[in-house]
Amino acid sequence: MVGTTNLWGEAGKVDVNAKPKLRVALVGCGGISGTHINGWKRLSPTAQIVACADPIEDRRHQRGEEIGLPRESRFPYLKDILKSGIEIDAVDCCTNNSAHAPVSIEALNHDLHVLCEKPTTTKPQLVRKIMAARDKAKNRIFMTAQHMRFEQKSLKLKEFLGGGILGDIYYARAQFLRRRYLPARIGFIDKTISGGGPCIDIGVHILDLTLHFMGYPEPVSVTAITPQKMAKRKDIRGWWGEWDRGKITVEDFAAGFIRFKNGGALTLECSWLTNMREPELTKITLMGTEAGAEWPELTIHGESNGSVTDTALKFPQDNTGGHAKEIEVFADAILTGKPSPVPAEQSLNVIRILDGLYRSHAAGKEVKV
Ligand SMILES: NC(=O)c1ccc[n+]([C@@H]2O[C@H](COP(=O)([O-])OP(=O)(O)OC[C@H]3O[C@@H](n4cnc5c(N)ncnc54)[C@H](O)[C@@H]3O)[C@@H](O)[C@H]2O)c1
Repeated sequence: MVGTTNLWGEAGKVDVNAKPKLRVALVGCGGISGTHINGWKRLSPTAQIVACADPIEDRRHQRGEEIGLPRESRFPYLKDILKSGIEIDAVDCCTNNSAHAPVSIEALNHDLHVLCEKPTTTKPQLVRKIMAARDKAKNRIFMTAQHMRFEQKSLKLKEFLGGGILGDIYYARAQFLRRRYLPARIGFIDKTISGGGPCIDIGVHILDLTLHFMGYPEPVSVTAITPQKMAKRKDIRGWWGEWDRGKITVEDFAAGFIRFKNGGALTLECSWLTNMREPELTKITLMGTEAGAEWPELTIHGESNGSVTDTALKFPQDNTGGHAKEIEVFADAILTGKPSPVPAEQSLNVIRILDGLYRSHAAGKEVKV
């Protein structure tokens, strides 16, 4: 299953008498935590959730039941878990965006590893504070849950690109556009809780993945628009239900142009509401001097012996989803002493760019990041 060491036992075999080698506290018991719970269950008993926290009582008890935790292991906040005496090694932070930094810093200050949902935080200075706490902690891993990196198609394309087969990747197009899918909950539409709209919610996924394929070039400047065009209109119907038109304070569309120190560039487009043909479009186009590539199609476009060529990558399908795999690589990195699979230095660049998009829109011009 995971890694090559014997920490995980024989592949596919569960030793029911084993004590967990990695004890995890789940913090935030809302929607996405259910997916994380399934990911941790795959790794049991080597890694297990031993406590959970959410200030909303029903939620922590519902998730607690799903995990199989006794009632006394369910708490309102991380601080309550820390006070309880329950031993933990890592925190899985699934809170709303505004709590990512305080929860992660509190965990790192207690020498715990952290897996934190995306976006890492809403501001670059908060990512820097997380990095400072990580550096003070003893060999602790901080990883943002960029699950799209760990989907099989992404792993395969990254592996294929490994030898530099595209040459100098000087341009990329990253698109995560939704026609009428606006997440209606207050934690997504109120900027004080979410930090932003589709940029922070889904732009963060496609931007991280595109930068990952490009080899994480250093960003220098951004020019963008991040307007709210349709979200207050009562005649627009969302396909995920109604939202409070009076409380939505975030953008519903964004388009940006990002310049890199190496002379390359990237365009990013994302939306929750826009007038387009597809219900959803998730696509990356990479253009290199030797070849181009498209994700998720996994096609390579080049030239050979005087003809242009289109090549498709083929491999047997693995049904492990990106979320389960991200939890696996996080646990594996801790147990086998590897560095964070998503270094915070890379997440900082993602947040610098997203913050730059908003600043550029407000300023009406290109801004340095
Ligand atoms: N990777 C993905 O595909 C994906 C999908 C959905 C959401 N997310 C991310 O996951 C996070 C949670 O999203 P969600 O959809 O589960 O939201 P949600 O609103 O359903 O749940 C968030 C929960 O966190 C709790 N919470 C807030 N502050 C807390 C704190 N300090 N301590 C403990 N609990 C706290 C809230 O009470 C709530 O129950 C967000 O950051 C979101 O961006 C990621």
